[in-house]
Amino acid sequence: MKGNILVITGGLSGIGKGTALELAKENLTIIILDVQDKKAPDVIKQVELLGSECKYFHCDLTKRQEVDRGFEQIGKQYGRVDYAFNNAGRGILSKPFAKVNDSEIDSLIDLDIKAVMYCMINELKFMTEQHFGRIVNTTSGAGLVAGKGMALYSACKHAVVGLTKAAALDYAKKEITINAVAPGTIATELILPYKETAPEEFKKWEDSNPIGRLGKPAEIGHAVKFFFEDGSEFVNGVILPVDSGCVAGNF
Ligand SMILES: NC(=O)c1ccc[n+]([C@@H]2O[C@H](COP(=O)([O-])OP(=O)(O)OC[C@H]3O[C@@H](n4cnc5c(N)ncnc54)[C@H](O)[C@@H]3O)[C@@H](O)[C@H]2O)c1
Repeated sequence: MKGNILVITGGLSGIGKGTALELAKENLTIIILDVQDKKAPDVIKQVELLGSECKYFHCDLTKRQEVDRGFEQIGKQYGRVDYAFNNAGRGILSKPFAKVNDSEIDSLIDLDIKAVMYCMINELKFMTEQHFGRIVNTTSGAGLVAGKGMALYSACKHAVVGLTKAAALDYAKKEITINAVAPGTIATELILPYKETAPEEFKKWEDSNPIGRLGKPAEIGHAVKFFFEDGSEFVNGVILPVDSGCVAGNF
């Protein structure tokens, strides 16, 4: 991999953490932006044991000023951002759209769409100046196909798809690529608690990947790494499902 500064949002849990650990073997400086301060020391230790430096900045990504401040700190300490995985996000348990309330609408749009935009704007400033950058966003299978009771989440994740594709065109001549991963159902803290609280929903999710099991966070990390590797520069504006075939068709 060409540069060595990687920013991961939501890197203290689930897919973000799995990706940090997967990429830790690449001898990078991995900077995690997240809010769960207590989890940071353990994740930093795990990443560093695998061979990369790891820094954590507390940053509520839904607040533009905090995002700008986070990237300002990164600029001061490291002067560049080579790779970015804009991954932090959240879903809500399925319900018909009219049952969604205003605060759910605001909080999902803030985290799943606006935060990705705030981060990209900051990352692209570094990358444009450097004439190099690789951005990967996290959408979802729900960003590619619809599911009953998923209108709000699906709308947000479709927005990430549009954002990824259009921005990829804007920066294609600047040696910057922008792609996205669309995970199937992955065993993370977003999903696992529902095993107790909504067992029927959980069973549906378990069955939702054609391979017959939940995905592992590292399996998303593996796909993210592909977009970052030397030789992937012709891969741009792609939304890659990582779901054992879930959105390929009616299995
Ligand atoms: N788990 C799945 O099955 C699945 C499937 C498809 C897409 N996704 C997407 O993958 C991404 C990661 O999900 P996950 O399952 O790893 O979830 P997770 O809950 O395990 O991890 C999300 C991380 O984001 C952080 N975060 C949340 N709000 C934040 C904020 N305001 N500011 C900074 N950090 C914040 C959390 O602290 C946490 O560390 C999300 O965008 C989600 O929509 C997940």
